[in-house]
Amino acid sequence: MHVSIDFGLTNIDIVTLTDPSAGAEQCVTVPSEGRVNRAQLERVLAQLGCLPRDCTAIAVTGGQHRTLPDSIDNTPIVKVSEVTAIGLGGLRLAEKDQALVVSAGSGTAIVAARGRDVRHVTGSAVGGGTLQGLGKLLIGTSDALEIDALAMRGNSNVPDLTLVEAVGGALGRLPADANAVNFGRFARPGTTATHEDMAAALVVMVAQVIGVIAINAARAEHLDDIVIVGHLVDLPTVRRVLHTVAGYYDAHFIIPERPGYATALGALIQVIGR
Ligand SMILES: Nc1ncnc2c1ncn2[C@@H]1O[C@H](COP(=O)(O)OP(=O)(O)OP(=O)(O)O)[C@@H](O)[C@H]1O
Ligand SMILES: [Mg+2]
Repeated sequence: MHVSIDFGLTNIDIVTLTDPSAGAEQCVTVPSEGRVNRAQLERVLAQLGCLPRDCTAIAVTGGQHRTLPDSIDNTPIVKVSEVTAIGLGGLRLAEKDQALVVSAGSGTAIVAARGRDVRHVTGSAVGGGTLQGLGKLLIGTSDALEIDALAMRGNSNVPDLTLVEAVGGALGRLPADANAVNFGRFARPGTTATHEDMAAALVVMVAQVIGVIAINAARAEHLDDIVIVGHLVDLPTVRRVLHTVAGYYDAHFIIPERPGYATALGALIQVIGR
């Protein structure tokens, strides 16, 4: 059995492949515990009901994976660069030969993947962790699913200023009701908003930053396809805003099934060679 583990800042994603010729990986996610070390790796495997010696090889990537030993009980621990893992996993999930792959995780990493050649292009410290951190400050919850549920019922144009207010109407391809200033109305006295509206504006801000950077990076890299992975795009409101941003700029985002497993899957592909 091959096992691959992505030690993210928020989540640890595990992909297991029992029979490489048959494919059919299994995916599991557990919350991150902070430090990455041998004991933590063994606890993760125990949750799958296995020991290091049950594995042919263990691929590791993400976070502090480099601090792990090179083997445990004679099972090789193969360290895979997170950039490579994001690129290979994104291409596989989207069934593409080349693409800009965006990892929308706790932070945002953007790579150009052309076959096996994967390079870091850019990124942003704005990501899912920002949604959670500012969620705690603004609406008292860092629970991503709760923020998403609130955002679903909110109106982001209560906290945000729109183009109508900023420039009187549409601007280029942007419609009049697109926002012009994230949370800008709060600079004006007497502004109030519900938790639902605040959550909606927060999701808009985070997803817009990621979407706009991704589109510009793809154009700079001359890559036609943009694949977005990471658990942030498990959230329906984040996906909705991303697709709206794509529409503004005549772009298209591919958000594959099970986007949160791209990085662990990419590390597995790097180790088994296909
Ligand atoms: N059920 C969930 N539990 C936790 N986070 C979730 C959940 N659903 C969506 N998210 C979002 O996913 C984000 C984390 O994404 P992901 O697990 O891909 O990143 P990571 O691998 O932990 O971080 P990084 O790759 O940046 O080190 C969270 O910050 C949160 O906004
Ligand atoms: Mg991850």
